Amino acid sequence: MNSLISLTVFLLWNQSVVSSQSVRTGFIGGEVLLPCVYSEKLPKEVNAFWRDKDDKIVLDIINGREGKMDPKFKSRVFSFPNQYETGNFSILIKGLRADDAGPYDCHITKVDYQTKITLNVTGQFSSTSTLLGTPQCLCSSSSGVFEKCRK
Ligand SMILES: *[C@@H]1O[C@H](CO)[C@@H](O)[C@H](O)[C@H]1NC(C)=O
Ligand SMILES: *[C@@H]1O[C@H](CO)[C@@H](O)[C@H](O)[C@H]1NC(C)=O
Repeated sequence: MNSLISLTVFLLWNQSVVSSQSVRTGFIGGEVLLPCVYSEKLPKEVNAFWRDKDDKIVLDIINGREGKMDPKFKSRVFSFPNQYETGNFSILIKGLRADDAGPYDCHITKVDYQTKITLNVTGQFSSTSTLLGTPQCLCSSSSGVFEKCRK
């Protein structure tokens, strides 16, 4: 009986997490900010764990320092250590790739705060793209890879 109650509580709690889900959109080669902000008072030496759809380590923030990252995200993911104190563990993903799209999860374990953000990466052409050195006519394909325009 007790376990039934806790299961119900868990399901309800889980639902509220899902309902706080949001979508962020970025362009291939561009950058996007994924927010993870805990606005209540935090204990010192806080940890936050960012994971992607494959449970890869996007970024581990351990005791207020940037830690592990999966090679996929190395030198593309940045956080804001001077904002940790205010509960802001948002990350910036640069050089967006089509395979970055999908759900991301930020978990602040000590306060058990969890937030999910779905990243939508579109192949839309950005005029500031310097992907191939000099700007040229590029079209996006559905696979997210730029192709030269066909006349
Ligand atoms: C969190 O920090 C980022 C980077 O400085 C900033 O862009 C964002 O607005 C901040 N969010 C909040 C809620 O303060
Ligand atoms: C992603 O963005 C495209 C283009 O803006 C839009 O058509 C599509 O519905 C979006 N997908 C999601 C899951 O928001």
